[in-house]
Amino acid sequence: MRLTKTSLLLLAVCLVAGPLLAQTDLPTDYLTPAFHASRRDALRKAMPDSSVTVVFAYPTRVFSQDVDYFYHQNPDMYYFTGYKEPHSVLMVFKEPQVDSAGNSFTEILFVQKRDPRGEQWTGRRLGIEGVQSKLGIKTVMNGSSFKTFPVDLSKLKILMEELPIDVPDAKNDKADLADLIAQFREKTAMPADYHKDKRFDLRTFSQITGALREIKTAEELLLLRKAVEISCLGQNEVMKTVRPDMSELEIQGLHEYIHKRYGAEGVGYGSIVGAGENGCILHYMENTKTKVGSSLLLMDVGAEYHGYSADVTRTIPANGKFSENEKIIYQLVYDAQEAAFKTLKDGSTWTEAEKVSRDIVTNGLIKLGIAKDKADARKYYPHGLGHHIGLDVHDRSNYGKLQKDMVITIEPGIYIPEGSNCDKKWWSIAVRIEDDALITETGYELLSAFAPRSVEAIEKMIAEQSVLDKYKLAPLKSAEKKAF
Ligand code: GLY
Ligand code: MN
Ligand code: MN
Repeated sequence: MRLTKTSLLLLAVCLVAGPLLAQTDLPTDYLTPAFHASRRDALRKAMPDSSVTVVFAYPTRVFSQDVDYFYHQNPDMYYFTGYKEPHSVLMVFKEPQVDSAGNSFTEILFVQKRDPRGEQWTGRRLGIEGVQSKLGIKTVMNGSSFKTFPVDLSKLKILMEELPIDVPDAKNDKADLADLIAQFREKTAMPADYHKDKRFDLRTFSQITGALREIKTAEELLLLRKAVEISCLGQNEVMKTVRPDMSELEIQGLHEYIHKRYGAEGVGYGSIVGAGENGCILHYMENTKTKVGSSLLLMDVGAEYHGYSADVTRTIPANGKFSENEKIIYQLVYDAQEAAFKTLKDGSTWTEAEKVSRDIVTNGLIKLGIAKDKADARKYYPHGLGHHIGLDVHDRSNYGKLQKDMVITIEPGIYIPEGSNCDKKWWSIAVRIEDDALITETGYELLSAFAPRSVEAIEKMIAEQSVLDKYKLAPLKSAEKKAF
């Protein structure tokens, strides 16, 4: 919608009527203010003396002309505050600070100012009072106060991430993210190459936030469990309804419909639905093939539920039966994944899991005559075994030993693109099996066990009926028209 006469009239009515009413009927399982407060306390505890942590919101991004992409908050900002709006900056101080009125504080969040006119177009804002009452943060100011806010940063070590780049600067807003960053640079007399200035400590920021975020609290685990279960339900429904004449796009839509049906707001990354050769592109996101056909269909799709992202891949035969060659490759990947699972427990290492699983793939590919040696095998399995998941799909972690309450993916794969230096019969076979595991004291819990993994279990699921089977749509009328 653009600014037409009608919308101006509506806007005038709204301005007279006052600010938008608060939203009702919201989900009740968001992270609590107490969770975010506990994370800030843990951060403060881990910070070195005389330091401040500074976290900026992510920038907004243009999708097309005057339309922005759906806004996604910086996961660090969300973790420490629960604040989901752009144009904001958080400061957490190690030692209490005192403002001009003599009030002491250890943290301050600068937020977007409330603006009924702006909110009518781009959505409700919490503003100072909303953040105080809903997120429980005491010291909150509008971004417009950041410039003159009297705090001496010159004697503090500043823990921060790389500053965001290419930040749009709205000329009619003097407190948008671009301004907050410029003012921060000024306040701290930040040199252009701040990485070389010891006052700005990117490494300690990354270590502390990695150490905090890699261990999930009970509240986080609940949200991650939901994200993963929902993603599995999407995989299952697609398995039950898939047909070779479906398009990659339709299958993507079915996954994402199921996600939303269960309350997941979005996806943790662009959904990957690649049939046949497309499965060989690791982060394939075009999903434009009009018929998935009878080859293997690789579906790497993760729901994002209240900020937490799952990451689950299933590779299935769209016609319901794995061919003999597909089965051989699939089984190799499956065995590699099983071997990795067996190593998982509190205190185990990524190196160990990586080695046992990669050895299975390497030896298998050599035995089948697909790879000549270890280096050759690497070409067919060119990525690592897995990563942490959480508020980022590739979540923050220091990648030390695995510990209880970490949640990781285990995702071996084999991809044999057309033209590979092996028998043609293997070409265009691509298999990834990706599961999400919670590390426990004695082993692991497979959070994604809701979706079948073995050849037999997948074929059985595909043979089942789906509630979506009855959902028939009429063909497009405009498809009958000719362009000229
Ligand atoms: N879906 C991205 C990944 O598996 O890492
Ligand atoms: Mn992954
Ligand atoms: Mn994935």
